[in-house]
Amino acid sequence: MKPIDYIRRCIELAAQGKGWVNPNPLVGCVIVHEDKIISEGWHQGYGQAHAERMAIDEYLSAGNVAEIFKECDVYVSLEPCSHFGKTPPCADLLVKHRFKRVFVSMLDPNILVAGSGIEKLRQAGISVEVGIGEALARSQNRFFLSFHEKKRPYFILKWAETSDGFIAPESRFRTAISGVESQKYVHALRQECSAILVGRTTLLGDNPQLTDRYFGGPQPVKFVFSSSWNGDLDEDFQMVENVQQFIKICMEQGLNSVLVEGGLQTLEYFLATGLVDEVHQIQSKSMVLGTGINGPQFESAALGLDKVSHTENESDFITVYKRKS
Ligand SMILES: NC(=O)c1ccc[n+]([C@@H]2O[C@H](COP(=O)([O-])OP(=O)(O)OC[C@H]3O[C@@H](n4cnc5c(N)ncnc54)[C@H](OP(=O)(O)O)[C@@H]3O)[C@@H](O)[C@H]2O)c1
Repeated sequence: MKPIDYIRRCIELAAQGKGWVNPNPLVGCVIVHEDKIISEGWHQGYGQAHAERMAIDEYLSAGNVAEIFKECDVYVSLEPCSHFGKTPPCADLLVKHRFKRVFVSMLDPNILVAGSGIEKLRQAGISVEVGIGEALARSQNRFFLSFHEKKRPYFILKWAETSDGFIAPESRFRTAISGVESQKYVHALRQECSAILVGRTTLLGDNPQLTDRYFGGPQPVKFVFSSSWNGDLDEDFQMVENVQQFIKICMEQGLNSVLVEGGLQTLEYFLATGLVDEVHQIQSKSMVLGTGINGPQFESAALGLDKVSHTENESDFITVYKRKS
């Protein structure tokens, strides 16, 4: 296998941590001896062992000896950490076991690491190659990168509209538009994201649960957008008055990704700010309202978004737009 194939496997492993690791990155690691993977690891959850440590521990706990590591290469989708966080530095662990070579997809933008993990390995005489499958790794870690590089959470907008383009009837009466499979799709987005935001009218009118009820892991933190709230607020929700305040709270609370679930005014506001990183537009194949609240209109190119997929399930089409990287 080529280095890129091993990195692809790392990225596959890392994906298992989606929704569990925030605000940490998704990371996968494989240990290779004579062109064969002898152990695998991934970061499974916030505060848990990093991918490199898991791969090493898994190998040793099966009764194998560490001696072989001197003849092994390590492939990892993110630069090994060099600082004491919730766990000791992975770079030290790789040095301790005197691995032959380390292949890394992307540097860690966290100022506590930022190249120092690579430096530590090189200073110990370990050969390091950086950048294999970098685009894949950066795409997988887009929440983490936005948080550290842009100093703001990654914003995903999602809505469901009827086949004639309405997100709700004129009465604003709560109306289910998408089918079961799309609802499951939305729960997967909720599971991946650290936070959810809805506008005041949606909260008061729809009383949505905004939870993931399929996939498990920590539930997203719930926010309501309102500049004029003066009543009681369900203790599950935090109130935000404007986007600057919201970004500040997200940075303080380590919330690196936000799913904005509507309604129209809230979605349009975000589209106008240019802060949108991703749009998931669900369109019913058969539901027609004839009149109602129109779905948001947007020019993807003007927002710097590319259409990356258009799929369908039994009841709906789902179109996804992503910020050009
Ligand atoms: N089909 C779907 O996917 C979907 C999803 C969600 C909702 N909906 C539907 O959408 C309808 C509600 O949409 P809507 O447009 O009427 O209302 P909305 O966006 O849910 O809420 C509007 C309120 O949010 C607050 N808000 C919005 N932008 C703000 C900003 N920039 N700063 C501060 N606060 C801001 C304001 O509260 P204040 O006035 O207090 O400042 C505003 O009145 C409902 O019928 C709901 O069922 C459909």
